[in-house]
Amino acid sequence: MSEVQNQKPEKKPIIFSGIQPSGTLTLGNYIGALRNFSKLQDEYDCIYSIVDMHAITVRQNPAELRRRCMELAAIYIASGIDPKKSLIYCQSHVPGHAELSWILNCFTYMGELQRMTQYKDKAAKHADNINAGLFTYPVLMAADILLYQTNLVPVGVDQKQHLELCRDIAQRFNGVYGDVFTIPEGYIPKVGAKVMSLQEPTRKMSKSDPEDTYVALLDDPDTIRRKIKRAVTDSDGEIRYDPENKPGVSNLLSIMSALGAGTLEELQNELAGQGYGTLKARTTDCVIATLEPLQAEFKRLIADKAYLQGVLDENARTANYLANKTLRKVQKKVGFASRG
Ligand code: TYM
Repeated sequence: MSEVQNQKPEKKPIIFSGIQPSGTLTLGNYIGALRNFSKLQDEYDCIYSIVDMHAITVRQNPAELRRRCMELAAIYIASGIDPKKSLIYCQSHVPGHAELSWILNCFTYMGELQRMTQYKDKAAKHADNINAGLFTYPVLMAADILLYQTNLVPVGVDQKQHLELCRDIAQRFNGVYGDVFTIPEGYIPKVGAKVMSLQEPTRKMSKSDPEDTYVALLDDPDTIRRKIKRAVTDSDGEIRYDPENKPGVSNLLSIMSALGAGTLEELQNELAGQGYGTLKARTTDCVIATLEPLQAEFKRLIADKAYLQGVLDENARTANYLANKTLRKVQKKVGFASRG
């Protein structure tokens, strides 16, 4: 397919994922999704999109959105994604996403979209702007994935329902027209698939919540220390992994474990009898040690806009080529007139 394949003759399975360039990326985005993106680069052909079309389902400041797209490109690369091996591009630069999305809209039922919990949450949060895009958001996500004949989709657990819908739509389409789409599988981490808010540890850590509820990927060490120090725990003083009864403590243990400090069991044994101050200090150290190198690389990359623009332009060309292969097939299947 891409230049990636020109170097290696065998066809590798395909990974696709995306992150919205809306708001600051959080430790949740990193642990649930981003840190897995670079891991499978050698075994898979990986495609990572900056999903700016999804971002405008909530009103965005145009200049800020443009800046965040560039920043996300830099974050992708700083996290270890090699743009020579994997594709990094903006969703809006590949019109096939919107075109396939329209076709898939005609294979998706209102009832299915009405059941999506993220739609219900976002509609409640943005009651003044419940637009049709917010409603059909999961169809665009299905188009993203199916356009590239994706095998595996690394995401956090909050995207599982959307992924299941994507599979249903693909199966429905294939049921009518034959094997057009590959049916994708999710790649959801065992630990850290849902990093919780530091202030309300029964809720997901989210970039759209107040600042003290999340660690941002670009927070400096002092800010990280302060936020984790203030994280809500509980009053019984025991360091034990028990998400139901001890969500705050369990969240910190999962963060550490996901960042490679040990299994949950090892960490529990190691920290048994210690106070929450130690737990928080250890979590802080892990987070800073992970984010510092990423931040240093980010700073270097973001200063070189010409390089980032070059990566986005070149990779969008390859993405367009790949997307059009599937799109033309789909258009033919549904009966659109052939092109000269
Ligand atoms: P987005 O931009 O909200 O989040 C990006 C990724 O981060 C994961 N994530 C989390 N994981 C663990 N704990 C958390 N607190 C947490 N918060 C976010 C999300 O699960 C996601 O994997 N619809 C998607 C973007 C998208 C996409 C796609 C993903 C568009 N098209 C196609 C995969 C495939 C979204 O809004 O992610």
